[in-house]
Amino acid sequence: MNNFEFHNPTKLIFGKGTISNLDKLIAPEKKILLTYGGGSIKKNGVYDQVKKALKNHNVIEFGGIEPNPKYETLLKAVELVKKENIDFLLPVGGGSVIDGTKFIAAAVKLDSDPWNILNGKAQIKAALPIGAILTLPATGTEMNGNSVISKLATKEKYGFSSKYVYPVFSILDPETCFSLPDIQIANGIVDAFVHVMEQYLTYPVNSPLQDRMAESILITLTEVGPKALKNKTDYNEMANFMWCATMALNGAISRGVAEDWTTHIIGHELTALHEIDHAQTLAVVLPGVMSVMRENKKEKILQYGQRVWGVNSSNANTAIDETIAKTEQFFESMGIPTKLNKYSVGQDTIDTIVKRFTDRKSVFGEKGDVNPDAVRKILEIRK
Ligand code: NZQ
Ligand code: ZN
Repeated sequence: MNNFEFHNPTKLIFGKGTISNLDKLIAPEKKILLTYGGGSIKKNGVYDQVKKALKNHNVIEFGGIEPNPKYETLLKAVELVKKENIDFLLPVGGGSVIDGTKFIAAAVKLDSDPWNILNGKAQIKAALPIGAILTLPATGTEMNGNSVISKLATKEKYGFSSKYVYPVFSILDPETCFSLPDIQIANGIVDAFVHVMEQYLTYPVNSPLQDRMAESILITLTEVGPKALKNKTDYNEMANFMWCATMALNGAISRGVAEDWTTHIIGHELTALHEIDHAQTLAVVLPGVMSVMRENKKEKILQYGQRVWGVNSSNANTAIDETIAKTEQFFESMGIPTKLNKYSVGQDTIDTIVKRFTDRKSVFGEKGDVNPDAVRKILEIRK
């Protein structure tokens, strides 16, 4: 096992009725900016619960943060925070609202151009405190220091990570998920599934606990996914879904093991260029990564196939092909297509993505050998 440190500062408050704890979690003298998206929280009653809990606090609002949150919109919030002397940020929504608010928190404290946060030139040294209310299990952003932001003007999508943007608390009430449309449930299950895969499907480092934790999240997601789609207001299904998604990307399963975020890095380009939902890009790309990088990942693909899907072929290549097929079938069974043509993405986009990585001199993968040629192969077989 590799050396590691583990410190996750987010206090998680989980369960029915927990939004009412808000008034005790935020000091009364704080001036709060409540951020939200396109209005789902106003339709499902979450907004009302938040306002009721904070009736004695000073709260200002900023709505309209888009899915795949836009840099241009977030800069307006940065101005508002400065003008109003906000000292606490309260995102209420899915990953986009929380990620967007993490960017606001860091940009407000930065002396240089906020774009430097996303091109990696700025060193983040401070951020406003954030308390999050999650309404869509998927990204794990409620308990990590990551954020992914898109720039409309240039069709770029980049992430940043900082210890300063972990939420100080996150409230997860599974009842807030009862209003989720089918596609967001499917997206959430697939996103969480692929988060586990990106921290698991590398090479063995003798980490049986991390491996089994990862496999147990994967198996639970395969069980919960179809049930959550069928019974959208079943509290226990939503609770298990929510907890899986948080555990998939709060740092626990990646301690001491190699990671490979190739699927996400390529997927972000598909979203940047075509606004395809994040999880849908992952469902397309992951099977391609498993196939093209099968030699690097051989032992872990075989272990995953056997332990998660019961694949037992004695021929390694056959077992890997069967495992990839099982993974694809699972995504498809959740209602997420896994081929590029289903999203009207053609050869020109593959060429553009390969050119972008070539220009940026990007290489990734657990062994640093996923170069633009490999990216081309991965995308070509997903046409
Ligand atoms: O905007 P509103 O009206 O709130 O509607 C949203 C949005 O249209 C809706 N929604 C959310 N909760 C709802 C609901 N509708 C009904 N009932 C509810 N309870 O769902 C739509 C999608 O929301 P969004 O926040 O965009 O989805 P998600 O949580 O999947 O977040 C996706 C973003 O997170 C990034 C992705 O790249 C993408 O930008 N990620 C962030 C990560 C992180 N910070 O660690 C890791 C991930 O890999 C991912 O990259
Ligand atoms: Zn993801």
